[in-house]
Amino acid sequence: MSDLPKLGERVLNFIDGAWRESESDRWTQRYDPADQSILVAVAPDSTRKDAAAAVESASRAHEGWAAMPAPNRGRLLFKWLRWIDERREAIADLLTREEGKTLPESLGEVSRSIDILEHTAGMGRRLSGTVFPSEEPGVFCYSVPTSVGVAGLITPWNFPVAIPVWKMAPALIAGNTVVLKPSPLTPLTAGALVRGLEEVGIPQGVVNLVYGDSEPAIELIDNPSVGAVSFTGSTKTGKAIARAAAARLLKLQLELGGKNPMIILNDVDIDLALSGVVIGAFGSTGQRCTATSRAIVEAGVYDKFLDALIKRASAIKIGAGNSPGVEIGPLVDSKAISSVSDYIEVGRQDGGTFLIGGGRMSGPEYDRGFFFSPTVIEASSGMKIAQEEVFGPVLSVIRATDLNQAIELANCVRYGLTASIYTRDVSRVFKFANQIKAGMVHVNRPSIGGYSHAPFGGIKDSGYGGREVGSEVMDFYTETKTVYINHQPLN
Ligand code: UN1
Repeated sequence: MSDLPKLGERVLNFIDGAWRESESDRWTQRYDPADQSILVAVAPDSTRKDAAAAVESASRAHEGWAAMPAPNRGRLLFKWLRWIDERREAIADLLTREEGKTLPESLGEVSRSIDILEHTAGMGRRLSGTVFPSEEPGVFCYSVPTSVGVAGLITPWNFPVAIPVWKMAPALIAGNTVVLKPSPLTPLTAGALVRGLEEVGIPQGVVNLVYGDSEPAIELIDNPSVGAVSFTGSTKTGKAIARAAAARLLKLQLELGGKNPMIILNDVDIDLALSGVVIGAFGSTGQRCTATSRAIVEAGVYDKFLDALIKRASAIKIGAGNSPGVEIGPLVDSKAISSVSDYIEVGRQDGGTFLIGGGRMSGPEYDRGFFFSPTVIEASSGMKIAQEEVFGPVLSVIRATDLNQAIELANCVRYGLTASIYTRDVSRVFKFANQIKAGMVHVNRPSIGGYSHAPFGGIKDSGYGGREVGSEVMDFYTETKTVYINHQPLN
């Protein structure tokens, strides 16, 4: 099979270096979330047995792959990078078709994946250990990072290019082999990435792809030949995985939900904060774990900020991600429409005031897709809509008397992924950065995104098992071996 999957294609699992049907003979159809009349792909609904075959193939390939010098593994990843780079637009096109985000957002995601690969492929020459001072004469003590074995990677639909890359690349550079289980909602981009690896010559069995929903995922968690599982998705699913993983002390990394605050103080640069909140809350249709879902606004600027926000948010252009000028695309599917609508309903019942939005969009442009209007609600911090992750274009605005109260409100949720503040006052910046409970903190920047070489992840219910991206991710994909060598002459 060569090059990228085509729109409407029937894609297959990739196991032991070959494209294979699932033993189940069940298939899942995926339609364009902007236009349900367009078939995006048909993918196998794989079983545990399919996943077990993939794990077996990855186990067989592990020894050879781990024995390959790390710079050579890096060279393959650089080739993969170039393969992706040459197909930027085409991959972004597939991404928009199956996930719904706008083309510029898709292109941004592909670029970010390339940046991550640039950093990670280079790690092939930087995977080093430590030499320790000896406690005894004639003993040499050092540590070396070794691979874990087979890595099971369970990835979400919202960043279906970047997240598989940011899990596969560090897993591979460290000498692990991989079974990727992507979301059933985004089969084409997963297929594209794995075809790229096939075409650049990844050895047989080193990378395996199994489509499907929870069945193959459960196999990855239970199968004793899988040494590590990395999952990105909801906190609810993450906790279920953690419970199952604990039974066999599986090495686990979870990147979960968020309820990320943006604090706006009285001395804010309003235009800067407005552009930050619009991209933070409504970019990617709010479907990102780092989305800004609470604006906590100091009393002195509250009315002015809210007026400006409503004007700006009302002007957002919504439509199919591949139409020019569109700022936000549809939600991913009908389940997303229902769950976001349910939150809106509870928000109303709890007494929230809806300033704009609050429902599914209708009209000839919208009826074939899952379009939801950008929503701003005045809420109080205890309301469910201001506490739980909505995963849609919904922003709760909360009033705070001062910075102290703003930080207190910001921290009073069970999540701790990212947080952002807008102010010109350096001492308030430091107070916030020190007191906020979050894994990533932004100052005069939106709550989303992150550098491709800096650690990514959260605390509390937002994450578990260490950071992703950057160099810290290697702690997860390697095990440290400490070696003591008595080199005194032997009798
Ligand atoms: C971003 O902030 O740009 O699932 C990326 C998610 C995150 C990725 C967010 N793991 O939304």
